[in-house]
Amino acid sequence: MRSLIDILDFSVEEIEELLTVANDIIDNPQKYGEICKGKKLATLFFEPSTRTRLSFEAAMYELGGNVIGFSEANSSSASKGESVADTAKTISCYADIIAMRHPKEGAPFVAAQNATIPVINAGDGGHNHPTQTLADLLTIYREKGGFNNLTVGFCGDLKFGRTVHSLINALSRYSGIRVVLISPEELKLPSYVKKDVLLKNGIPYTQTTSLEDAIPELDILYMTRVQRERFFNEEDYLRLKDSYVLEPKKLTNAKKDLSIMHPLPRVNEISVSIDSDPRACYFKQVLNGKYVRMALILKLLKEAGRI
Ligand code: NCD
Repeated sequence: MRSLIDILDFSVEEIEELLTVANDIIDNPQKYGEICKGKKLATLFFEPSTRTRLSFEAAMYELGGNVIGFSEANSSSASKGESVADTAKTISCYADIIAMRHPKEGAPFVAAQNATIPVINAGDGGHNHPTQTLADLLTIYREKGGFNNLTVGFCGDLKFGRTVHSLINALSRYSGIRVVLISPEELKLPSYVKKDVLLKNGIPYTQTTSLEDAIPELDILYMTRVQRERFFNEEDYLRLKDSYVLEPKKLTNAKKDLSIMHPLPRVNEISVSIDSDPRACYFKQVLNGKYVRMALILKLLKEAGRI
């Protein structure tokens, strides 16, 4: 059974195909309104979410399908001690496809091993978030026309930020990518990502603590929130939370066609006065996320022979 647990589960060609379908949905939404009639998406969210869960739900409704699920662990039998494996087997009896978010790294993988329907990783702990990456890729594609020869700056919590890990993996398959890692010492990109992704693929990267120094060379600036829920103590969080705040004056030396991205939710990292800057792309990412999730649901349901 085909699932999406890690962005590398899909080839570059498959991702291109998904983006093509997403772009077609944007241009011709009426073609897609009934394809999933009678089908059910289950959203199993063991962690808070606004965009990911609701964009999955909106995506399924716009395909003519239905949605079941829960939005907090406490309202599911996980609170009684049920395993992820049993939950996955159970939901397979009710739904056609699962989108799962879980605080434990690897939980959606375990679900996929036990489900008889496709499972989509909607974020697992500080590990991966492949569908945010699809939203990011669609946005980059629409802004830049492709993925080659881009200098991409990742700023903020690169340690726990799962969207960063997945996007770096995805970009590592294109040519001419350069990565600038901007974070406090304590929140640097994990060494397994550096070793297994950047070094292994020969992607040149630099590390810095200074956003101002990095900005002029960037084509894309990917800001992230400090991931409070993954910290062991509140003091560290409070000390680090405002490490970077993007304000208009910091963009003085930025490229005219810089794309400013953020998976959202934002806390303080981007001043609201940036929102009206034509380079701000974060609300475009939100909308693109719905379309690319529609394309993803279609792909996985087709491969499972359910539509
Ligand atoms: C991200 C996540 O859940 O990892 N949010 C999202 O899905 N767009 C980013 C975050 O929570 O900081």
